[in-house]
Order: sequence, then structure tokens, then C-alpha cells
Amino acid sequence: MLNTALCKSLGIKYPIIQAGMGPFSNNKLCIATANAGVLGLLSTSGITTRTNQPAIYKHFAETGGASPDDTPETIFRKIFRQTFENTKESGGIFGINVMVSAELKPIAEMIINTAIQERRENPEMGERFKVIFTSAGDPMPWGEKIKSAGFKWLHVVPSVKGAQRCQKAGVDVIVASGHEGGFHTSWEPVHSMILLPAVVEAMAPHGVPVVGAGGFCDGKTLVAALALGAAGAQMGTRFLATQESDFAELWKQGIVKAGDRGTLVARGFVGPARWIKTPVSLKHQENTLKKAPGVFLGVPDDGMSEGARELIDFEREAIDATFEGDESRALYAGGECAQRINDMPCVKDLVAQIVDETQNIIKGFPQRYV
Ligand SMILES: Cc1cc2nc3c(=O)[nH]c(=O)nc-3n(C[C@H](O)[C@H](O)[C@H](O)COP(=O)(O)O)c2cc1C
Repeated sequence: MLNTALCKSLGIKYPIIQAGMGPFSNNKLCIATANAGVLGLLSTSGITTRTNQPAIYKHFAETGGASPDDTPETIFRKIFRQTFENTKESGGIFGINVMVSAELKPIAEMIINTAIQERRENPEMGERFKVIFTSAGDPMPWGEKIKSAGFKWLHVVPSVKGAQRCQKAGVDVIVASGHEGGFHTSWEPVHSMILLPAVVEAMAPHGVPVVGAGGFCDGKTLVAALALGAAGAQMGTRFLATQESDFAELWKQGIVKAGDRGTLVARGFVGPARWIKTPVSLKHQENTLKKAPGVFLGVPDDGMSEGARELIDFEREAIDATFEGDESRALYAGGECAQRINDMPCVKDLVAQIVDETQNIIKGFPQRYV
């Protein structure tokens, strides 16, 4: 009943993507989500935190079965192998989320080359390590390398214009990410209710499947994504607050406790970001208004001004405090749907619950509305 174009394209059971959530480890989470029949995505940008956030780097490497002293390539190889081994029994499908913004190009290149090499050396892995999901940059330069290596290529966009570029570049599945979503959001954001059907309509003549992201967290919202013409939904915040999630306990509990109007937008590392509302994030928002008001005006900056740099340094320290469990200094990101998240289930139960709710709503439609 839920066998959408996304399921057919990737060979997953349910039309759900567990979002990449870097620079933090998703290593354990990805294994759990792939085993539960959705697409599991490993975040890769943790590799950039070696000098700036060594505790996050160490966690990123160690949850992947690697050592922080390994070379970056070895860390990735170990993470890929660990994921492959631990999803063998279920036949789970997984991939990597790679940020391809201009300043990360050499690192993105290394990550993608390592993935291609690893799959080449282990063809069995290629049957389930299927996806490269690029984000935060121009898709155009990446298509040939990714697709000629046999990967399915997904890319995330915040606009119809971005989707049209993806279509030209040959992206297999486009993810349209609305302003409700957790952490980084677009300089000129549009909410999912408008963005998703607009992207679906723009892509329909080209036959490119579209997935919704931003605000999707249960059966009701997955049905909404399908009703808006999507082939599925990507969920970040919802999977962050699960038993298997690699995130710090304080962060996970912060999502569960967020409540009514529980998020705000302020400076992130690379532009505006959605944070869970706390005294610390309210102060960060106030400072953003003073030091980098472009975040609220849709005027991009490159993060190099003194004000922006101070805000970014503050974020690093506050995120470290989150991992240290120091609530008085902690800052943590999450989407608007945190308001609707009140529990911390294990991934298998969560996915079963989302799928049941989705099927029941769809089955109930003829009785309710016909
Ligand atoms: C903590 C956190 C970190 C994220 N990091 C990334 C990232 O590194 N790359 C990316 O493409 N998206 C990132 N995202 C966005 C998610 O991939 C996803 O699109 C978003 O969470 C969807 O909205 P939702 O939170 O309402 O489910 C992040 C989201 C969160 C909550």
C-alpha cells in the first residue's frame, strides 16, 4: 500500500528517509533505521570537526567503529563496513549525506571517492549501500561521478529553482526542505505546505520523484506529504529523539520537552538555523539580531564578519556543552515538529507506528469523506 516511487527506486520497504544530521554522528541511528525498512543516512560532515570540536570528532569516529587517530579515509571505510555488517540480516538500505558547499568541496570529493572505492572493492556492499545524498551546494558538478559509480543520487533543495537545477543535473530523487525543518534552513525559506506541492508540480513533467522534508514526523504528516504529491517524507528531528540515536541525552530530551512553539531561528554555522527554544537559544537569537541581522532579513553573509564569527564560536562551545550535559550552557537544534514529539521510542517501534497510522488514515478516507 505504501510502495511509492521512492521505495521502488531505492528498494526500501517504507517511503521514509532518516535524514542526515551532521556534523554529528548518525552511525548507530543509521543502522537502526535501515534495519527498520527505511533509508538510513550516515552523516559525513563530522570529519570536519577534528580541530574545532574534538569531542564530536571522537564520538563520530568511535560510534563508527573507528579511532579518531585513523586517517579520514579509514574512518569512513570502517563506518561503511560497520553499517554494512550490522544491516546484513535485515537487508537494510543505506547511504551517505555529503555536504557539497564550495568550502567543503575537497572533503566532499574525498568522501565520495572513498565510498565509490569501498563499493568497488566489495560489490556485495553495493547492493545495499545505494545512496549518495548531496546537500548545501550546487548539484551540477557531482552527477557524473556519483551516477557512473552506480549510486542513486538524491539532493535537497529549498526552492523550485533549486529543483529545476537538480533536474538538469540528473538527480534521481529531489528532497524539498521547508522552513519547519531542524537546524540549517534557507536564507529565503518557504514552508513545506507551499514548497512541496510547488516542487512536485514543477518536476511532474520530468517524472522526477520528490520527497518532503521539514515538519514530517508521524503517519498524519506522511499522509500529508503523499497527498501533496510526494513519494515520501524525510524525517530528521523525529529520528533524533529515539533510543538508538547517537545524539547526547540532553539534546534528545530537549526535543521531547520542547512543547508548544518550542523552536526559534537564529544564526547557525552556515546561515540561519532552527534551534530548540531555551534561555540559551533566546539569548543567541537576541545576539543574532545585533550581530548578524541578515539572518532575519534574508540577506546572506559568508560568516566572516566579526559578529558572525563570534556567534559561530559561541555555537561551537554551546553544542560542546550539550554533549557534556551542561544544560545551563547548552544549545541544540531541532525542527518545529519537536512540538509534536512527546516520546523517545526505539526506531523499530517508531517506524511500525508511523506506517500503521499512515495506512489507517488512508483506509479510513472513503468512510470519512465519500
Ligand atoms: C541536528 C540536525 C542536523 C542536521 N544536519 C544536516 C546535515 O548535515 N546535512 C543536511 O543535508 N541536512 C541536515 N539537517 C537537516 C535534515 O537533514 C532534515 O532535512 C531536516 O531535519 C528535516 O526536517 P525535520 O527536522 O522537521 O524532520 C539537520 C537537521 C538536524 C535536526
